[in-house]
Amino acid sequence: MADWTKKTILRSNALQQYIFETSAYPKEHEQLKELREVSAEKYKDLSVMNVPVDEAQFLSLFLKIMNANKTLEIGVFTGYSLLATALALPRDGHIIAIDPDKEAYETGAPFIKKAGVQHKIKFIPSDAFLVLNDLIKNVRVHGEEGSFDFVFVDAYKSDYLKFHELTLKLVKIGGIVAYDNTLWYGSVAESETGVTDGLIKMFRSFVIEFNSFVAADPRVESSLLSIGDGLTLCRRLY
Ligand SMILES: C[S@@+](CC[C@H](N)C(=O)[O-])C[C@H]1O[C@@H](n2cnc3c(N)ncnc32)[C@H](O)[C@@H]1O
Repeated sequence: MADWTKKTILRSNALQQYIFETSAYPKEHEQLKELREVSAEKYKDLSVMNVPVDEAQFLSLFLKIMNANKTLEIGVFTGYSLLATALALPRDGHIIAIDPDKEAYETGAPFIKKAGVQHKIKFIPSDAFLVLNDLIKNVRVHGEEGSFDFVFVDAYKSDYLKFHELTLKLVKIGGIVAYDNTLWYGSVAESETGVTDGLIKMFRSFVIEFNSFVAADPRVESSLLSIGDGLTLCRRLY
């Protein structure tokens, strides 16, 4: 049964530990490790909101392979995926990172600074809908529409479909929009009555609806990866 404090869909926790210990922890950047530990200390179980270490490493590799330079992050929390992104981008890379929770961002900010990548980040403490609409509206002023190489969406799952319409305007043709937690602790494949955890139950149907929509969306080529508790990559086609 899905347990929200353990964000994995792997067959056993031992298998997840094996991946972490064999492949991920040995190469985790020092400040990512510090940020992860401080998040766990301050936010306890809620620190599970940080992307897991193996997923962050995948995203880092992926950003480098695609030569991403300009990215957008929706849902920052304490900034684990943000720091992993900032470390992966080139020196002149640029990230717009949006989250109304300034306190959580400030918890991770000292580690971003210590890692020497703060100059790549513009953090906007706001609801992302306001910022995205602004970026789209002010297209002639800022030239932001169709300009992002990569967008990472990791906010409330009930908003993913609405974000999809906006991010598809902002990402460039051939660029990627990545949506986190699209297997929602594995609950998407469980029966509705079998899901008892309140938090998992709350967003399960939204994630199922989102997955069906994206799979049939002709504007994107998509792939649902079984890393973390699901990561959907959407490549904008037109
Ligand atoms: C899962 S956490 C993000 C974790 C982060 N990506 C990481 O790996 O460390 C989700 C965050 O989304 C933020 N959020 C929720 N709705 C939002 C919105 N409409 N705009 C921006 N951020 C939002 C919450 O405040 C929360 O901090």
